[in-house]
Amino acid sequence: MKPCLLHVVLVILYILLTTLPINTNSLTGDLVEPIDKPFVENYENKELNFITVGDWGYEGTEPGQTVTNQYKVAKAMEAWAQYYHDDFVLNTGDNFYISYVGDHEGVTSVDDPKWNRIWKGVYKGRLAEIPWYTIAGNHDWYNNITAQVDYSLNYDSRFFLPSTYYVRESYIGPDKTKIAWIHIDTDIFYYNSTDLEETEKIPLKQQLKKFGWDSLQAKEDKLKWIEDRLVEQQNSKWIIVVGHHPLVGLCAMQYYMVRLRPLFEKYRVAAYFSGHAHTLQLELAKLGQPVTYFLSGAGSRMEERCPGQDWGVPDKVLGFLHTTINDTVMTYEYVDSTTLEPKVVYKGHVYPRY
Ligand SMILES: *[C@@H]1O[C@H](CO)[C@@H](O)[C@H](O)[C@H]1NC(C)=O
Ligand SMILES: *[C@@H]1O[C@H](CO)[C@@H](O)[C@H](O)[C@H]1NC(C)=O
Ligand SMILES: *[C@@H]1O[C@H](CO)[C@@H](O)[C@H](O)[C@H]1NC(C)=O
Repeated sequence: MKPCLLHVVLVILYILLTTLPINTNSLTGDLVEPIDKPFVENYENKELNFITVGDWGYEGTEPGQTVTNQYKVAKAMEAWAQYYHDDFVLNTGDNFYISYVGDHEGVTSVDDPKWNRIWKGVYKGRLAEIPWYTIAGNHDWYNNITAQVDYSLNYDSRFFLPSTYYVRESYIGPDKTKIAWIHIDTDIFYYNSTDLEETEKIPLKQQLKKFGWDSLQAKEDKLKWIEDRLVEQQNSKWIIVVGHHPLVGLCAMQYYMVRLRPLFEKYRVAAYFSGHAHTLQLELAKLGQPVTYFLSGAGSRMEERCPGQDWGVPDKVLGFLHTTINDTVMTYEYVDSTTLEPKVVYKGHVYPRY
């Protein structure tokens, strides 16, 4: 048979398709777009143990903030992670801050010395073996957010940030109880046009624009994505959402953040984990308010709070949240690690959807 033009075209197409790099490794705006397909994890154990920490990469030079803050929290986290044999860290964002004069926000690139200096160099023992399921905070967006995704995809997947919105499904124990984790980027919801005029936030504004995230339609699209995932996960025993900005008390009233709580309540999310405010706070599930709203943003800085909490630490407290989750109950404890003798300051339970 003589090769016809169609054959030639097909062969060329085949070669092109198999040799061109596919999207996952291209370093364009696609990198920050939501990933629909869940990442699946299977665990033999009947329970998962994890630490939630946020706002941790600050080396401290402002009054009252010292570089030892981050080390203190890291040491206590290491002890807890070893004791409970933790499975992962839930990282609620603001991974890298500006720390001293001449320094920069976020990271500049995958080679930024901050990767080693304030992540790998600080979190040791079990914390250096387990994945950090990460989202981006505003300080990460103030610099090169794409570099954080690139680092995760191409340099160290333990810093797990395959995009700014993604879903994980964990199956635990012989019964394969399903836990769904929906990781979202709340930077698109939290800041209105006035906020984005602040000097510090100009780079965030520019990046939102660059990725086409600056329109109201883009916010609606992201809300739709979240709702679609919530619908898709209705067969999960647990649904957990993780985002940077808090929904505790009055913090839930900020701009497009007001759209999130009704969604979480409608689709019976068990808990929302957040950071951003540099404190440890909580809004409890109760009659007519079925979601537990956790805030753990005291990984290296202190103060700034959400009024209207059910529980919270006093000013000037550092720390993190430790959680164990199984088929029937989520047990949590907040750990104050301001002093060298860390202590549990609040404990509670959350129950699954049905
Ligand atoms: C940001 O990071 C990406 C991905 O690593 C890189 O391609 C890009 O050059 C960086 N941008 C700047 C302005 O350095
Ligand atoms: C934007 O939010 C800030 C609070 O962060 C508020 O003071 C301001 O009035 C809001 N502006 C608009 C245009 O809604
Ligand atoms: C889940 O944990 C609770 C509290 O530790 C325990 O009472 C319960 O038996 C556990 N459930 C399973 C299925 O292991």
